[in-house]
Amino acid sequence: MSRWGIALVGCGTVGGGTAQILTESASLLESRTGSSFPLLSIVDKDFGHAKSLGLGPSLFRTSVDEVLRNPDVKVVIELAGGTGFAKAVVESALKAGKHVVTANKALLATFGPELFALARSHKRTIGFEASCAGAIPIVRTLAEDLVANRIEGLSGIVNGTCNYILWQMGTQGLSYEVALRQAQELGFAEVDPFLDVSGTDSAHKLALLTSVAMGVWADWKQIPLRGLETVKVGDLEAAASLNSRVKLLARTDRTNQGYHFSVEPTVIPLGQPLAALDGPFNGVLVHGNETGFLYFQGRGAGAKPTASAVVSDLAALATGTLENTQSHYSCWPDLATHVRPLAESERRGPWFVYGPQRSPEVVTECSRTRLESEGLRVFPWYNPQEQ
Ligand code: HSE
Repeated sequence: MSRWGIALVGCGTVGGGTAQILTESASLLESRTGSSFPLLSIVDKDFGHAKSLGLGPSLFRTSVDEVLRNPDVKVVIELAGGTGFAKAVVESALKAGKHVVTANKALLATFGPELFALARSHKRTIGFEASCAGAIPIVRTLAEDLVANRIEGLSGIVNGTCNYILWQMGTQGLSYEVALRQAQELGFAEVDPFLDVSGTDSAHKLALLTSVAMGVWADWKQIPLRGLETVKVGDLEAAASLNSRVKLLARTDRTNQGYHFSVEPTVIPLGQPLAALDGPFNGVLVHGNETGFLYFQGRGAGAKPTASAVVSDLAALATGTLENTQSHYSCWPDLATHVRPLAESERRGPWFVYGPQRSPEVVTECSRTRLESEGLRVFPWYNPQEQ
């Protein structure tokens, strides 16, 4: 049986869930993969959460360097978050010959090309199944299982916090502030929830998902972005009156002109599965030219659902899958073709519009700017099978 010693850096919500699965499900993992994944050390500034989960102080370390010097550590799981300390951890782990598993979408969306190139130069891998849609097995599915397809479009509700807030505002009449506080208490939100509600977290995930689905890499900062702050309760009511819902949708469409990326509140008719997706759930709709539409749904945030995806990367590593796909496929951030997202002004609709003197309706083939100049509230209307 091969032994993959694990060092966990960051023992917050997802780190705690990962440590629990590694210890509680050790024999299940061994019998399924033929490998063991002993948790050798946990690095953090504060071990309060780890202690509350019953994890022993013998695991606790404060120095990443000390952990990297341990030859028994084969994999560093980075769950510290952010792009400063986390980047240093990933770089030094790869240089020390360790494989890396991370759920850090901000880090990979910002530094993916250079970190993947570094991993490749050290013949190591970076697993990031947990970074994009929590429990949903979407990264390997897009990269490997849909390889026979040209992906025409990819759309998703990939931020559980925003989906939870919109759901609570729309169905329970909660205020934005109360719904956000609940999402924080439930462990869905980022440490800085601005990343969630501004749409930034969704843009990070969209850049990564588009890379593995379409083999193109966009700088997330160039993705047109609107966050929840643009949504009013009246918008939710107007959408409901047309049998639809407002969702924070991340979306990439391949067109003859190039790639349209966007993250913004979008009105989706209830016939679409994404419209009916509530609570902290994530959903991803993929349009393959051979498969047609595929829809994936599951818990997008939270300790154990996300930790399940983290652990799946360990199994992919132990079985050789991760190394094989990262060396053979060309969709990874360092190998994907760099593209510039098309300008937002090039979208021609369809739009969901309403205003003080105008009932909600869907209009096509006109510019958003013109509609907004008429004093209308305007949202993209997303009904993909129709288009
Ligand atoms: N804050 C993120 C969310 C966590 O709410 O979806 C999972 O990436």
